[in-house]
Amino acid sequence: MSESVHTVTALPTERRTDCPFDPPAELLDARRHGPISRCTHPGGKPGWLVTGYELVRSVLADPRFSSRKDLLNVVDFELPPAPPGEFLLMDDPEHSRYRKPLVGRFTVRRMRMLTERIEQITAECLDAMEAGGTSADLVTAFAKPIPTIVICELLGVPYEDRASFQEQIDAFMGGEVSDEELIAAYTATQEYLARLVAAKRAHPTDDVLSELTDSDLTDEELKGISLILLAAGFDTTANMLSLGTYALLRNPDQLAALRADPSLTDGAVEELLRYLSVAKTFHRTALEDVELGGQTIAAGTTIVLSYHTANRDPERFADPHALDLSRQAAGHLAFSHGIHQCLGQQLARVEMRVAFRALVDRFPALRLAVPAEEVVLRPESADIFGVKSLPVAWDAK
Ligand code: HEM
Repeated sequence: MSESVHTVTALPTERRTDCPFDPPAELLDARRHGPISRCTHPGGKPGWLVTGYELVRSVLADPRFSSRKDLLNVVDFELPPAPPGEFLLMDDPEHSRYRKPLVGRFTVRRMRMLTERIEQITAECLDAMEAGGTSADLVTAFAKPIPTIVICELLGVPYEDRASFQEQIDAFMGGEVSDEELIAAYTATQEYLARLVAAKRAHPTDDVLSELTDSDLTDEELKGISLILLAAGFDTTANMLSLGTYALLRNPDQLAALRADPSLTDGAVEELLRYLSVAKTFHRTALEDVELGGQTIAAGTTIVLSYHTANRDPERFADPHALDLSRQAAGHLAFSHGIHQCLGQQLARVEMRVAFRALVDRFPALRLAVPAEEVVLRPESADIFGVKSLPVAWDAK
């Protein structure tokens, strides 16, 4: 094994406040040294960090690397296996047993059919913002409600339960509460989903969860699937909408180009996904000794894959740290690659295309309501990157 391999001592590292959209300097530095570095996991265990686009992509397509939660080798104690239905942290064949019945429900065609409904939800949020004056927190007024309502519709959460359900998932995933409140919100969400599954089995309605009751999946498994849809689909999309808007406001030439040319919208969404990579890093564990980028990853070692630095790899994307809405960003790894590639990506694309377009059309003079340095960002330790709040203002009509 090479002695000269670069080492990143502690993960995660913080971002520079003047470049909040860029990966932490230590990770960019690691990629400059080569696509793979040694690292120490926050729990103290030694591991590897993969930062180059080609190498990250190759790991994601390699069945010798596992996503299993119980194999994660980052802390001193053993982790339990993922609960039934939570297939993000499972390998095939268990993983595909859960994913397969869902795939047909998340196709491009099915998601396009949802477009009209998403346009309506977005318009309602914008109407409420306008009715409330000439300023708002874009996170609470726009970025969170849109994906929350969409998930509620997918799962068939009855209208009368939505307000309390939204509060719970915000506490459980918004990252703004104490540990006790987090556990209480998590438990309440689990209990609510168990009741919802039972209700859908007894009286199916027109939604994905009801359709799934017509399969061999147990109630416990359906609860796990619902939880994973919620966990994977809410915070990611909400932060793409809020951080994406912040990035556009900090790049006024790009915002002006998007406003002027609706045909840029689809490409703009891909570029924002690449540039921001809010789902920054994921883990995989070697099931056997694997040669990777000139290093041997010993069986049982957990590696960190940085999707963000991969998406900023100059060998794959020219001038990677520039937000350029007209570039060909397709092929980015913001939705991952391989068997765990995001199941909800077509839905997320529809939500972002509709929401960004409607926002720039409705508020031509949208601007930050505070100096940029006062916008509070999440710490790098958060699973999903984003802004905590985004005060914006616009002109009265
Ligand atoms: C912009 C928003 C989104 C981003 C950036 C995103 C990103 C990702 C990423 C990176 C993964 C793969 C993780 C890995 O490699 O281990 C993933 C998986 C997943 N995502 Fe998304 N996601 C988004 C929206 C959604 C939505 C809206 C849904 C559904 C409602 C969803 C459902 C899922 C599910 C179920 C998985 C697990 C797939 C599997 O393990 O086979 N995501 N997502």
